[in-house]
Amino acid sequence: MSEKPKAGSYGEYLKVPQLLGLQKTLSDPPHHDETLFIVIHQVYELWFKELLHELDYLETKLRDKDVPRSLHTLKRVLTILKVVVAQIDVLETMTPLEFLSFRARLESGSGFQSWQFRELEFKLGAKSPAALERYPEGSEARRRLERRLAAATIWDAFLHFLAGYGYKVPRELLERDVTQSIQPAPALHPVLIEVYRKDPMGASICERLVDLDEGFQEWRYRHVKMVERTIGTKAGTGGSSGAEYLRTTLMKPFFPDLWTIRTEL
Ligand code: HEM
Repeated sequence: MSEKPKAGSYGEYLKVPQLLGLQKTLSDPPHHDETLFIVIHQVYELWFKELLHELDYLETKLRDKDVPRSLHTLKRVLTILKVVVAQIDVLETMTPLEFLSFRARLESGSGFQSWQFRELEFKLGAKSPAALERYPEGSEARRRLERRLAAATIWDAFLHFLAGYGYKVPRELLERDVTQSIQPAPALHPVLIEVYRKDPMGASICERLVDLDEGFQEWRYRHVKMVERTIGTKAGTGGSSGAEYLRTTLMKPFFPDLWTIRTEL
């Protein structure tokens, strides 16, 4: 019988030497703040990976109609989101002049190109086929985004969850084209209102989804303010108009119906 591979030591298991070898500054001589810039982006990418991992799990738990595990997973996602938002404070300790001292080295590099961030948006229901064009055909990033574009979102899983509990979710929503972004659906409002009024467990899931939606919007707001205080109204290294573009992404919920029904409750 083959033995399970041993973890060995802390360093071996976590690949610490490899991990600590991944922060290569481009400025020459190395600028002090570039290390922070690299570390924080890498940490974000790791959290994005974990968030995708948890959201994929949440989707399966919703489809299994497993309320306790769904709520537990949502709690974890929300806790990570709080950390992710709070990390902006660390980056804000970098002054505009400190950033300028190595910004030119970034060339066209920008968080704009983070495919895991787009994967998160797709998973949560904001699909954008145009985002795929930024990655060469056949690249790993493109393949991942193609898969996510064609896959159902958390919202779709939630609607099937409700239907599984006998709620009259309109058929066209259950069979919608999942490559499209979630659109407001007034026909769903009576169903959501019924959940809120009569079903505390279902209502808890709705509320955690609202937390998730709000948390993501909070990150966008904090990121744009950080951008404004660091580069003002300069264009972004990713080729957009910078803060002006980022402001167009604010106040756009993933799950619009969960917000609209509040007025009707
Ligand atoms: C000094 C720090 C930062 C500055 C000045 C900055 C600046 C910008 C700018 C100007 C954009 C607009 C796109 C473009 O580049 O033209 C952008 C987009 C973006 N940035 Fe940052 N950023 C910073 C840090 C971060 C960090 C730490 C992350 C974490 C991964 C991040 C993630 C993103 C993402 C995901 C977008 C795309 C947003 C969207 O399209 O909705 N940024 N950033």
